[in-house]
Amino acid sequence: MAVVKANAYGHGLFEVAKAAEKAGIARLCVARLEEAVALRDAGILAPILVLGYTSPLDVPKAMQRSISLALFNAELAPQYEEAARHSVGTLQVHIKVDTGMGRLGIFPEHAVDFVAQVAKMDNINVEGLFTHFARADEPLQSTTDDQIIRFNRVLQELEAIGIRPSIIHADNSAGSLYYANAWYDAVRPGNAIYGLNPSADAPLPEGFEPALAWKSRLTSVKILSPNSGVSYGHSYITKGYERIGTCAVGYADGLRRKLGNIALVHGRRVNQVGMVCMDQTMWQLDEIPDAKVGDEVVLIGQQGNERISAEEVAASWNTINYEVVCGLSARVPRYYFDE
Ligand SMILES: Cc1ncc(COP(=O)(O)O)c(C=O)c1O
Repeated sequence: MAVVKANAYGHGLFEVAKAAEKAGIARLCVARLEEAVALRDAGILAPILVLGYTSPLDVPKAMQRSISLALFNAELAPQYEEAARHSVGTLQVHIKVDTGMGRLGIFPEHAVDFVAQVAKMDNINVEGLFTHFARADEPLQSTTDDQIIRFNRVLQELEAIGIRPSIIHADNSAGSLYYANAWYDAVRPGNAIYGLNPSADAPLPEGFEPALAWKSRLTSVKILSPNSGVSYGHSYITKGYERIGTCAVGYADGLRRKLGNIALVHGRRVNQVGMVCMDQTMWQLDEIPDAKVGDEVVLIGQQGNERISAEEVAASWNTINYEVVCGLSARVPRYYFDE
Protein backbone atom coordinates (compact mmCIF):
# COMPACT_ATOMS: atom_id res chain seq x y z
CA MET A 1 0.00 0.00 0.00
CA ALA A 2 1.32 3.44 -0.88
CA VAL A 3 0.86 6.18 1.72
CA VAL A 4 -0.02 9.33 -0.23
CA LYS A 5 -1.45 11.53 2.51
CA ALA A 6 -0.49 15.20 2.84
CA ASN A 7 -0.34 15.72 -0.91
CA ALA A 8 1.82 12.59 -1.19
CA TYR A 9 4.33 14.03 1.28
CA GLY A 10 4.39 17.22 -0.76
CA HIS A 11 5.11 15.37 -4.01
CA GLY A 12 1.63 15.80 -5.51
CA LEU A 13 -1.31 13.55 -4.67
CA PHE A 14 -2.65 12.72 -8.12
CA GLU A 15 0.61 12.17 -9.95
CA VAL A 16 1.96 9.94 -7.20
CA ALA A 17 -1.32 8.03 -6.98
CA LYS A 18 -1.31 7.56 -10.76
CA ALA A 19 2.30 6.36 -10.68
CA ALA A 20 1.50 3.99 -7.81
CA GLU A 21 -1.53 2.65 -9.67
CA LYS A 22 0.58 2.14 -12.79
CA ALA A 23 3.14 0.29 -10.69
CA GLY A 24 0.40 -2.08 -9.54
CA ILE A 25 0.00 -0.91 -5.97
CA ALA A 26 -2.64 -2.82 -3.99
CA ARG A 27 -4.08 0.18 -2.17
CA LEU A 28 -3.55 3.86 -1.40
CA CYS A 29 -3.62 5.23 2.15
CA VAL A 30 -4.54 8.80 3.04
CA ALA A 31 -5.14 10.58 6.33
CA ARG A 32 -8.42 12.34 5.59
CA LEU A 33 -11.59 11.51 3.71
CA GLU A 34 -11.19 14.72 1.66
CA GLU A 35 -7.94 13.32 0.24
CA ALA A 36 -9.66 10.07 -0.70
CA VAL A 37 -12.57 11.90 -2.33
CA ALA A 38 -10.13 14.06 -4.31
CA LEU A 39 -8.44 10.89 -5.57
CA ARG A 40 -11.75 9.37 -6.67
CA ASP A 41 -12.79 12.65 -8.34
CA ALA A 42 -9.50 12.52 -10.27
CA GLY A 43 -10.39 9.07 -11.55
CA ILE A 44 -8.22 6.95 -9.28
CA LEU A 45 -9.81 3.49 -9.06
CA ALA A 46 -7.40 1.72 -6.67
CA PRO A 47 -8.75 0.75 -3.25
CA ILE A 48 -8.26 3.58 -0.75
CA LEU A 49 -8.02 3.49 3.03
CA VAL A 50 -8.49 6.59 5.20
CA LEU A 51 -6.11 6.16 8.14
CA GLY A 52 -7.46 9.04 10.24
CA TYR A 53 -10.80 10.07 11.72
CA THR A 54 -13.92 10.20 9.59
CA SER A 55 -17.14 11.67 10.96
CA PRO A 56 -20.12 9.28 10.91
CA LEU A 57 -21.87 12.01 8.89
CA ASP A 58 -19.41 11.33 6.08
CA VAL A 59 -19.89 7.56 6.00
CA PRO A 60 -22.29 7.75 3.01
CA LYS A 61 -19.70 9.80 1.09
CA ALA A 62 -17.11 7.10 1.74
CA MET A 63 -19.46 4.25 0.80
CA GLN A 64 -20.59 5.90 -2.44
CA ARG A 65 -16.96 6.09 -3.50
CA SER A 66 -15.80 2.66 -2.25
CA ILE A 67 -13.46 4.19 0.31
CA SER A 68 -12.49 2.09 3.34
CA LEU A 69 -12.33 3.75 6.74
CA ALA A 70 -10.18 3.20 9.80
CA LEU A 71 -12.22 2.39 12.90
CA PHE A 72 -10.51 2.96 16.22
CA ASN A 73 -13.17 4.15 18.67
CA ALA A 74 -15.76 1.91 20.32
CA GLU A 75 -18.25 4.82 20.32
CA LEU A 76 -17.95 5.23 16.56
CA ALA A 77 -18.84 1.65 15.62
CA PRO A 78 -22.62 1.89 16.24
CA GLN A 79 -22.68 5.34 14.61
CA TYR A 80 -20.92 4.00 11.51
CA GLU A 81 -23.31 1.02 11.49
CA GLU A 82 -26.33 3.31 11.69
CA ALA A 83 -25.00 5.56 8.90
CA ALA A 84 -24.16 2.53 6.75
CA ARG A 85 -27.68 1.11 7.27
CA HIS A 86 -29.10 4.17 5.49
CA SER A 87 -26.65 3.85 2.58
CA VAL A 88 -26.31 1.34 -0.20
CA GLY A 89 -23.86 -1.54 0.27
CA THR A 90 -21.49 -2.38 3.09
CA LEU A 91 -19.03 -0.07 4.81
CA GLN A 92 -15.49 -1.47 4.71
CA VAL A 93 -13.45 -0.78 7.83
CA HIS A 94 -9.93 -1.50 9.02
CA ILE A 95 -9.91 -1.73 12.80
CA LYS A 96 -6.88 -0.15 14.40
CA VAL A 97 -5.22 -1.60 17.47
CA ASP A 98 -3.07 0.64 19.68
CA THR A 99 -0.19 -1.69 20.51
CA GLY A 100 2.02 1.11 21.80
CA MET A 101 1.78 4.26 19.69
CA GLY A 102 -0.50 6.01 22.19
CA ARG A 103 -2.43 7.65 19.38
CA LEU A 104 -5.39 6.03 17.62
CA GLY A 105 -6.58 2.50 18.28
CA ILE A 106 -8.40 0.08 20.52
CA PHE A 107 -6.15 -1.29 23.27
CA PRO A 108 -5.14 -4.91 22.67
CA GLU A 109 -7.04 -6.14 25.74
CA HIS A 110 -10.32 -4.83 24.26
CA ALA A 111 -9.54 -5.51 20.60
CA VAL A 112 -10.79 -9.08 20.30
CA ASP A 113 -14.23 -8.35 21.77
CA PHE A 114 -14.49 -5.18 19.74
CA VAL A 115 -13.61 -6.85 16.43
CA ALA A 116 -16.05 -9.68 17.21
CA GLN A 117 -18.78 -7.14 17.94
CA VAL A 118 -18.17 -5.15 14.73
CA ALA A 119 -17.91 -8.35 12.68
CA LYS A 120 -21.51 -9.13 13.70
CA MET A 121 -22.82 -5.80 12.39
CA ASP A 122 -24.95 -6.13 9.28
CA ASN A 123 -23.73 -3.12 7.36
CA ILE A 124 -20.02 -3.14 8.20
CA ASN A 125 -17.36 -5.54 6.97
CA VAL A 126 -14.07 -5.78 8.86
CA GLU A 127 -11.85 -5.72 5.80
CA GLY A 128 -8.65 -5.10 7.71
CA LEU A 129 -6.91 -4.98 11.05
CA PHE A 130 -3.85 -2.86 11.66
CA THR A 131 -1.49 -1.22 14.09
CA HIS A 132 1.23 1.43 13.83
CA PHE A 133 4.79 1.39 15.15
CA ALA A 134 6.18 4.25 17.23
CA ARG A 135 9.89 3.47 17.06
CA ALA A 136 10.58 1.24 14.04
CA ASP A 137 13.13 3.80 12.77
CA GLU A 138 15.30 3.60 15.88
CA PRO A 139 18.16 1.26 16.77
CA LEU A 140 16.29 0.20 19.91
CA GLN A 141 14.18 -2.75 18.75
CA SER A 142 12.45 -3.74 21.96
CA THR A 143 9.48 -1.34 21.60
CA THR A 144 8.66 -2.58 18.10
CA ASP A 145 9.22 -6.19 19.15
CA ASP A 146 6.74 -5.65 22.01
CA GLN A 147 4.22 -4.05 19.68
CA ILE A 148 4.49 -7.02 17.31
CA ILE A 149 4.00 -9.46 20.20
CA ARG A 150 0.86 -7.61 21.34
CA PHE A 151 -0.52 -7.46 17.80
CA ASN A 152 0.19 -11.16 17.17
CA ARG A 153 -1.60 -12.04 20.40
CA VAL A 154 -4.72 -10.21 19.17
CA LEU A 155 -4.48 -11.98 15.80
CA GLN A 156 -4.14 -15.39 17.48
CA GLU A 157 -7.08 -14.78 19.80
CA LEU A 158 -9.19 -13.66 16.86
CA GLU A 159 -8.25 -16.74 14.85
CA ALA A 160 -9.23 -18.88 17.82
CA ILE A 161 -12.77 -17.54 17.49
CA GLY A 162 -12.74 -17.88 13.71
CA ILE A 163 -12.08 -14.25 12.74
CA ARG A 164 -9.37 -13.39 10.25
CA PRO A 165 -9.79 -10.01 8.48
CA SER A 166 -8.42 -10.27 4.96
CA ILE A 167 -5.83 -7.48 5.19
CA ILE A 168 -3.57 -7.43 8.25
CA HIS A 169 -0.99 -4.62 8.18
CA ALA A 170 1.47 -2.88 10.47
CA ASP A 171 4.78 -1.82 8.91
CA ASN A 172 5.52 1.78 7.91
CA SER A 173 8.67 2.49 5.84
CA ALA A 174 11.19 1.65 8.56
CA GLY A 175 9.12 -1.38 9.58
CA SER A 176 8.91 -2.58 5.97
CA LEU A 177 12.70 -2.40 5.69
CA TYR A 178 13.70 -3.70 9.10
CA TYR A 179 10.79 -5.79 10.45
CA ALA A 180 9.97 -8.47 7.90
CA ASN A 181 8.24 -10.35 10.73
CA ALA A 182 5.51 -7.69 10.55
CA TRP A 183 4.87 -7.73 6.81
CA TYR A 184 1.59 -9.68 7.24
CA ASP A 185 -0.63 -9.11 4.18
CA ALA A 186 0.48 -5.57 3.33
CA VAL A 187 2.88 -2.82 4.37
CA ARG A 188 2.22 0.93 4.54
CA PRO A 189 5.40 2.74 3.50
CA GLY A 190 5.24 6.48 2.94
CA ASN A 191 8.63 8.15 3.22
CA ALA A 192 10.55 5.30 1.57
CA ILE A 193 8.49 5.33 -1.63
CA TYR A 194 9.63 8.91 -2.18
CA GLY A 195 13.26 7.89 -1.73
CA LEU A 196 13.54 9.58 1.65
CA ASN A 197 15.29 8.00 4.61
CA PRO A 198 12.94 7.06 7.45
CA SER A 199 15.75 8.19 9.77
CA ALA A 200 19.53 8.21 10.03
CA ASP A 201 19.26 4.97 12.00
CA ALA A 202 16.96 3.35 9.45
CA PRO A 203 18.52 4.30 6.12
CA LEU A 204 17.15 3.19 2.78
CA PRO A 205 19.05 0.37 1.11
CA GLU A 206 21.32 1.01 -1.90
CA GLY A 207 19.48 1.94 -5.05
CA PHE A 208 16.80 4.21 -3.61
CA GLU A 209 16.91 7.75 -4.98
CA PRO A 210 14.94 10.78 -3.79
CA ALA A 211 12.11 11.46 -6.23
CA LEU A 212 11.96 15.16 -5.49
CA ALA A 213 14.12 18.15 -6.33
CA TRP A 214 13.14 21.69 -5.32
CA LYS A 215 14.28 24.40 -7.69
CA SER A 216 13.72 28.07 -8.32
CA ARG A 217 15.40 30.79 -10.36
CA LEU A 218 17.35 33.97 -9.85
CA THR A 219 15.02 36.88 -10.49
CA SER A 220 17.54 39.64 -9.89
CA VAL A 221 21.33 39.91 -9.61
CA LYS A 222 22.75 43.22 -8.37
CA ILE A 223 25.90 44.67 -6.90
CA LEU A 224 25.07 46.31 -3.59
CA SER A 225 27.29 49.07 -2.21
CA PRO A 226 29.27 48.58 1.00
CA ASN A 227 27.20 48.91 4.15
CA SER A 228 23.88 48.13 2.45
CA GLY A 229 21.17 46.37 4.44
CA VAL A 230 19.54 43.29 2.92
CA SER A 231 15.93 42.20 3.51
CA TYR A 232 13.51 43.01 6.33
CA GLY A 233 15.27 44.02 9.50
CA HIS A 234 18.62 44.38 7.71
CA SER A 235 19.97 41.32 9.47
CA TYR A 236 22.68 41.31 6.79
CA ILE A 237 24.83 44.35 6.00
CA THR A 238 27.21 44.16 3.05
CA LYS A 239 30.87 44.42 3.95
CA GLY A 240 32.03 45.74 0.59
CA TYR A 241 30.55 45.72 -2.89
CA GLU A 242 28.65 42.45 -2.93
CA ARG A 243 26.88 40.48 -5.65
CA ILE A 244 23.45 39.68 -4.23
CA GLY A 245 20.98 37.45 -6.06
CA THR A 246 17.27 37.34 -5.35
CA CYS A 247 15.45 34.11 -5.94
CA ALA A 248 11.72 33.42 -6.18
CA VAL A 249 11.37 31.23 -3.13
CA GLY A 250 10.11 32.27 0.28
CA TYR A 251 8.47 31.01 3.40
CA ALA A 252 5.11 30.88 1.60
CA ASP A 253 6.66 28.20 -0.61
CA GLY A 254 7.95 26.19 2.33
CA LEU A 255 11.42 27.61 2.93
CA ARG A 256 11.89 28.02 6.67
CA ARG A 257 11.97 31.68 7.79
CA LYS A 258 15.40 31.66 9.35
CA LEU A 259 18.96 32.66 8.60
CA GLY A 260 21.54 30.20 7.35
CA ASN A 261 19.72 28.43 4.50
CA ILE A 262 21.92 27.08 1.72
CA ALA A 263 21.25 26.77 -2.02
CA LEU A 264 23.12 25.68 -5.13
CA VAL A 265 23.87 28.09 -7.97
CA HIS A 266 26.11 27.04 -10.87
CA GLY A 267 26.89 23.85 -8.96
CA ARG A 268 28.24 25.70 -5.92
CA ARG A 269 26.88 26.18 -2.43
CA VAL A 270 25.78 29.74 -1.73
CA ASN A 271 24.70 31.33 1.54
CA GLN A 272 21.46 33.10 2.24
CA VAL A 273 21.81 36.78 3.17
CA GLY A 274 19.13 38.64 5.09
CA MET A 275 15.89 37.13 6.29
CA VAL A 276 13.70 34.87 4.11
CA CYS A 277 10.71 36.88 2.83
CA MET A 278 7.29 35.51 1.98
CA ASP A 279 8.07 35.04 -1.72
CA GLN A 280 11.78 35.74 -2.10
CA THR A 281 15.19 35.05 -0.61
CA MET A 282 18.54 36.70 -1.22
CA TRP A 283 21.85 34.86 -1.73
CA GLN A 284 25.51 35.90 -1.64
CA LEU A 285 26.87 35.37 -5.16
CA ASP A 286 30.41 36.85 -5.03
CA GLU A 287 31.81 33.39 -5.83
CA ILE A 288 29.58 33.13 -8.92
CA PRO A 289 30.58 36.18 -11.00
CA ASP A 290 28.63 35.03 -14.08
CA ALA A 291 25.36 34.38 -12.21
CA LYS A 292 22.48 35.97 -14.06
CA VAL A 293 18.72 36.37 -13.95
CA GLY A 294 16.99 33.13 -14.89
CA ASP A 295 19.71 30.84 -13.54
CA GLU A 296 18.56 27.80 -11.62
CA VAL A 297 18.68 27.83 -7.82
CA VAL A 298 18.46 24.42 -6.15
CA LEU A 299 17.06 24.19 -2.63
CA ILE A 300 16.89 20.38 -2.62
CA GLY A 301 18.55 18.20 -5.23
CA GLN A 302 21.63 17.90 -7.39
CA GLN A 303 23.37 20.60 -9.41
CA GLY A 304 26.70 19.75 -10.99
CA ASN A 305 28.64 17.75 -8.42
CA GLU A 306 26.91 19.30 -5.44
CA ARG A 307 23.81 18.01 -3.74
CA ILE A 308 21.52 19.22 -0.98
CA SER A 309 19.31 16.47 0.45
CA ALA A 310 15.99 16.89 2.24
CA GLU A 311 17.78 15.28 5.20
CA GLU A 312 20.41 18.06 5.19
CA VAL A 313 17.74 20.75 5.07
CA ALA A 314 15.84 18.98 7.86
CA ALA A 315 18.97 18.90 10.04
CA SER A 316 19.51 22.64 9.55
CA TRP A 317 15.86 23.29 10.48
CA ASN A 318 16.08 21.01 13.47
CA THR A 319 13.33 18.77 12.12
CA ILE A 320 12.83 15.63 10.00
CA ASN A 321 12.81 15.27 6.21
CA TYR A 322 9.05 14.49 6.38
CA GLU A 323 8.30 18.02 7.56
CA VAL A 324 10.50 19.61 4.90
CA VAL A 325 8.75 17.95 1.94
CA CYS A 326 5.25 18.15 3.46
CA GLY A 327 5.86 21.87 3.91
CA LEU A 328 6.22 22.55 0.19
CA SER A 329 3.18 24.67 -0.35
CA ALA A 330 0.40 24.27 -2.89
CA ARG A 331 1.55 27.19 -5.03
CA VAL A 332 4.90 25.55 -5.86
CA PRO A 333 4.37 24.04 -9.32
CA ARG A 334 5.22 20.34 -9.53
CA TYR A 335 6.73 18.93 -12.73
CA TYR A 336 7.04 15.20 -13.32
CA PHE A 337 9.69 13.40 -15.34
CA ASP A 338 10.02 9.74 -16.20
CA GLU A 339 13.63 8.78 -15.59
C1 LIG B 1 -0.85 5.02 10.16
C2 LIG B 1 0.33 5.29 9.29
N1 LIG B 1 0.81 4.32 8.52
C3 LIG B 1 1.87 4.51 7.71
C4 LIG B 1 2.53 5.72 7.66
C5 LIG B 1 3.73 5.89 6.78
O1 LIG B 1 4.87 6.18 7.55
P1 LIG B 1 6.30 6.35 6.88
O2 LIG B 1 6.22 7.58 6.05
O3 LIG B 1 7.24 6.48 7.99
O4 LIG B 1 6.52 5.13 6.04
C6 LIG B 1 2.07 6.77 8.46
C7 LIG B 1 2.74 8.06 8.42
O5 LIG B 1 2.84 8.82 9.30
C8 LIG B 1 0.93 6.55 9.30
O6 LIG B 1 0.46 7.53 10.08
